[in-house]
Amino acid sequence: MSTRTYQRWSPSQWAEYEILDSGDGARLERFGPVVLERPDPGAMWPRRLTVADWDRANAHFEPTGKSTGYWVKHGSAKDRWNMNYKSDRLNLTFQLEMTKFKHVGLFPEQAENWEYIAEHLKPGNRFLNLFAYTGGASIAARAAGADVTHVDAIRQVIDWTRVNMELSGLDGIRWVVEDALKFAEREQKRGNTYDGIVLDPPTWGLGPKGEKWRLEDQLTRLCEAVADIVAPNGFIIMNTYSGISPTALETLWSRLLPTASSEVGELCLEGKDGHLIPTGSLIRLKAKS
Ligand SMILES: C[S@@+](CC[C@H](N)C(=O)[O-])C[C@H]1O[C@@H](n2cnc3c(N)ncnc32)[C@H](O)[C@@H]1O
Repeated sequence: MSTRTYQRWSPSQWAEYEILDSGDGARLERFGPVVLERPDPGAMWPRRLTVADWDRANAHFEPTGKSTGYWVKHGSAKDRWNMNYKSDRLNLTFQLEMTKFKHVGLFPEQAENWEYIAEHLKPGNRFLNLFAYTGGASIAARAAGADVTHVDAIRQVIDWTRVNMELSGLDGIRWVVEDALKFAEREQKRGNTYDGIVLDPPTWGLGPKGEKWRLEDQLTRLCEAVADIVAPNGFIIMNTYSGISPTALETLWSRLLPTASSEVGELCLEGKDGHLIPTGSLIRLKAKS
């Protein structure tokens, strides 16, 4: 019998973010001064707090399609506000916004990865963030003194990251508006390497020139390119939000980097009463020297 275990990671040092409750397909979350109710189909358990507690949210999200919808504000909630992440290692500030995609510009569970990144990078190390969105990982790496390359297909999210970088008192991130697979394969051909790489590929997406990104079609090619551009002793962090199990991630990477050490499991958020919400699969690999 095999007894290999996997881990569950959840951020533990974030005073400004809380899951107040979850259940019946939704989350009640506090982002700094703003409490939001948003759909979360994964929250398939009963709620703990009362209807009156949930009604105290500053806004709730009404879906109109699979990934879009609109926010209904209760009272005078702001559309845009700032929020701080302060831990023993990091002091970052983010601009948040109620977007029509249900998101607010931050995936709070990623704070666990920001800590890993800040712990494992030294000034002058090279760091690559693929599918980088509003740049939490890029900013954590820059705060640790790394030379950061931030790749995303959408220019507007890169503009948003620039705001987050400046709010956090940082500068000097290299911005690349490009299809992540194309960029990784170009770096592979050039023989460039990175001491840390984060990849957080969505299930589907579009490159800047309309290139179709479908995780199931391009996953292996992407991971092969990433395996080639990680430096000796470098790390890779890969998240998936789309039903790829931790075991599948482990097997995939053991084929590509058989000598690397790895930790595998689920990234989670922990509610105020200690309940856990799963937010995706995660693998962290450390390449051999
Ligand atoms: C799930 S989000 C990543 C979240 C990010 N890890 C974070 O913690 O903030 C996915 C991102 O991938 C980008 N994207 C989608 N298709 C892409 C492609 N083909 N190449 C590069 N970026 C892409 C989207 O614009 C979006 O910003």
